[in-house]
This record gives sequence, C-alpha cells and structure tokens, in this order.
Amino acid sequence: MRIDRYLAASRMGSRSEVKDLIRKGLVYVNGAACKDCSFQVDPQDEVCLNGQKIRYAEHVYYMLNKPAGYVSATEDLREKTVLDLFPEKIRKGLFPAGRLDKDSVGLLLLTDDGELAHRLMSPKHHVDKRYLIRTDAPLTDDDVRAFAEGIVLSDGTRFKSAGLDISEDDPSKAVVTISEGKFHQIKRMVESRCNKVRYLKRLSVGPLMLDPKLEEGMYRELTDEETRLLRTI
Ligand code: URA
Repeated sequence: MRIDRYLAASRMGSRSEVKDLIRKGLVYVNGAACKDCSFQVDPQDEVCLNGQKIRYAEHVYYMLNKPAGYVSATEDLREKTVLDLFPEKIRKGLFPAGRLDKDSVGLLLLTDDGELAHRLMSPKHHVDKRYLIRTDAPLTDDDVRAFAEGIVLSDGTRFKSAGLDISEDDPSKAVVTISEGKFHQIKRMVESRCNKVRYLKRLSVGPLMLDPKLEEGMYRELTDEETRLLRTI
C-alpha cells in the first residue's frame, strides 16, 4: 500500500495533508526518511511520524478483474489461484471475499477484513450481485418470468427471485441480478431453462462496481469512498 494511503487510513490526516507531511520529511519507514508519497509499505513495516510510531489499524481492500483460468481460493494444489495475480508482498493475509467460477471473469474483492467479507457473503445480508451473461440460445420473456418467480431445481434446490434483463440488441446477452451466492448458481438457473451459459462476468457486488478501466488480470486498491460504501452493507 502507498505510504500516503497508509497514513490517511491510519487517520493521520487527509490524503493531501499526509502528502505534505511526507514531502516535509517528517515520515520515516523502518528508520529511513521517506519523502516519496507513492512508496509502498505493508502493515509489518515500522512507520513513524514526527518521531511517533503509527499503529496501523485498517484493513486492505483490492478490486480484481478476475481473468478466466484462476480459482477463487488462497491456495490450490493443481490450479492457479487469484492470489497468484498479486505480488508476494501484498498477498499476505489476503483472501477472496466471495467466489467466481474458474471460467468466470470480473469483479472480485480481495481483503484481509474477515468481518466485512462475512457480511458480503452472508445470505442474511442479501447483497445484490450483477452479472453479464451470454448464453448458447436466446433468452425469452418466459425465462424472465421464471427468474422473477424463483427457480426450484429437480433436486429441490431453491433459488430466490432474480432479475434477468435481456439485451435489446442481442437476446443471448443479459444482466442477471441475484442476492444469493450458491455454487454455480447462474449456470444452474440457466440450465434449468434448457439453455447454457457460455460467458459470465461479475459487474458489481452491492454498491461496488467493477472499474471499467481495469483490464482482466489487473487489480487496484479500493478508494476511500468505495470502502466507505462497502461498510454501509
Ligand atoms: N454463478 C455462476 O454460475 N458462476 C459464477 O462464477 C458466479 C455466479
């Protein structure tokens, strides 16, 4: 994490105030003066301001545009995990808050904040998640009604009411909104309608939207505003 963000997150001032403090040479990292606002530190580093050690209390939050071919796990014996997309220094303590299938792409939040992750994933909190899907066959108004009513599979699995917003230009393309996160949920919902998902991209989780500037495989820290919005869940 950048030193200016570290200090702002540790409530040492606004981002511009802490930048001034850094440029004035008042900040030391592991005993060495640090005048570079973009210098990378991690929670294990000793950061001092005006000779006083800063206690770092905040968590870290990253938005990843997950590419296909990676599993949403911290380790796996055979597969590449989403953590492999982060450098070793950042990786410590991070885990994916939620899951996307290996072949799915799009928004994945990675954090070391267990409490927030629990809230995001808990079925009690009904956090809406939006996905762009492409299907083999065109989607229909009957599919829209079935999704809205909630789907029950032949094995008794129940999926709550979901939104299906079919593209006007291409009926094999739609935005699905679900509030649960059951295993392969959208694929199974679509299969129950005798169709098949061939592309699935998560666009948003609650108030957090995938940054369109983030290429697949790239990540960035959440802004203070995005972190604040997530805490409202
Ligand atoms: N539903 C699925 O079927 N797969 C995902 O990756 C996410 C939601």
